Amino acid sequence: MQSYSPAEQWAEPRGQVQDLSWGARQRLSFANYVRADFKDEIGKDVREGLSARPKTLPCKYFYDDLGSRLFDQICRLPEYYPTRTEISILRTSGAAIMSFFEPQPGDLVEIGCGADLKIRQLFERTDPDRLAHIRYVPMDISAGCLVQSARRMLADFRGLKVHALIADFTRHVERIPAGRKMIVFFGGTFGNFTFAEGIDLLKRLAGIMGPEDRLVIGLDMIKEKEILEAAYNDRQGVTAAFNLNLLQHINVRLRADFDLNAFEHLAFWNERQERIEMHLQAKKDFNVNLAELGISWSFTRGESIRTEISQKFSRKSAQERFRKAGLQAIAWHTDPAGWFCLVELRRLQALDLGYAIQPSGNGCEKVVPSGA
Ligand code: AVJ
Repeated sequence: MQSYSPAEQWAEPRGQVQDLSWGARQRLSFANYVRADFKDEIGKDVREGLSARPKTLPCKYFYDDLGSRLFDQICRLPEYYPTRTEISILRTSGAAIMSFFEPQPGDLVEIGCGADLKIRQLFERTDPDRLAHIRYVPMDISAGCLVQSARRMLADFRGLKVHALIADFTRHVERIPAGRKMIVFFGGTFGNFTFAEGIDLLKRLAGIMGPEDRLVIGLDMIKEKEILEAAYNDRQGVTAAFNLNLLQHINVRLRADFDLNAFEHLAFWNERQERIEMHLQAKKDFNVNLAELGISWSFTRGESIRTEISQKFSRKSAQERFRKAGLQAIAWHTDPAGWFCLVELRRLQALDLGYAIQPSGNGCEKVVPSGA
């Protein structure tokens, strides 16, 4: 992966695609929804998170360039089963999923795309003649990842059009172009949301889906505690480095002075909430200064910042979320052990519910969490 300085990372990536062939360049377009307000956003998020009890930091800030590279490494760790399990499901079910584009053209929208390993499983299982009828619309907050992925897709899949959206899918779902589409959300990233946030995102997605559109979502399923905890406490310490890099990212963005050696990586299974939690625990008392915000925070030994939740699902707990969001599962694709699922969803119709769904979700309707 290419390196970008913090300033360049959010700039228009056009310079990075000038060497593409004329034909490939014609099939590529970009839209950037992040640049203008990103700086205020991270400051606000960090201030809110550190003011909360317990302290939290949003996991989306793991993914600066180093963080994205560390995450790629995590995906190849022996203990980290989700990536390879999901890919194995795409190998067996990819053709079935892509049959959505058999009769008619449309967009294949991928939210939070990161690397291209997963999506290419789908394009590899698509009749090459159909590719010209599909537009790939990757959406990611990291311009670096998007450019790399767009380049490879254009080169490897002749005829495929790519419209790359530099955007934060927690904020910019409504920017997804209208029209016939299948939206895919891989990686179990949906598990990073709380119950209320997850339903809110699903509602917003349902709100931009037409009656025939599809949403395909990856879910990491509940399994033995030992397997789950090992996946987030790998022996090589890559996950620990990934977790700590969040502080380094904040150091760069907000001119902060977090001492990475003063924190310890913690990851454990929260049985009651059915989720893995990652924390950074302070090893001593100290102050952190965030120059960009003009604030400092004190930490006491043993205190921790929760940096990520990774919800694990049962079909029942997933169905509950789908139903509350006005979505209906029409197919469950899974591996032989049932460790991971790719669920195909459609929007529930007015008929199914007995009342009309608000057609355009602006994400404002709040869901009261039940227990979470
Ligand atoms: C990409 C969010 C699904 O929760 O398993 C991996 C991120 N964090 N190891 C996950 C992650 C620690 C991952 N997701």
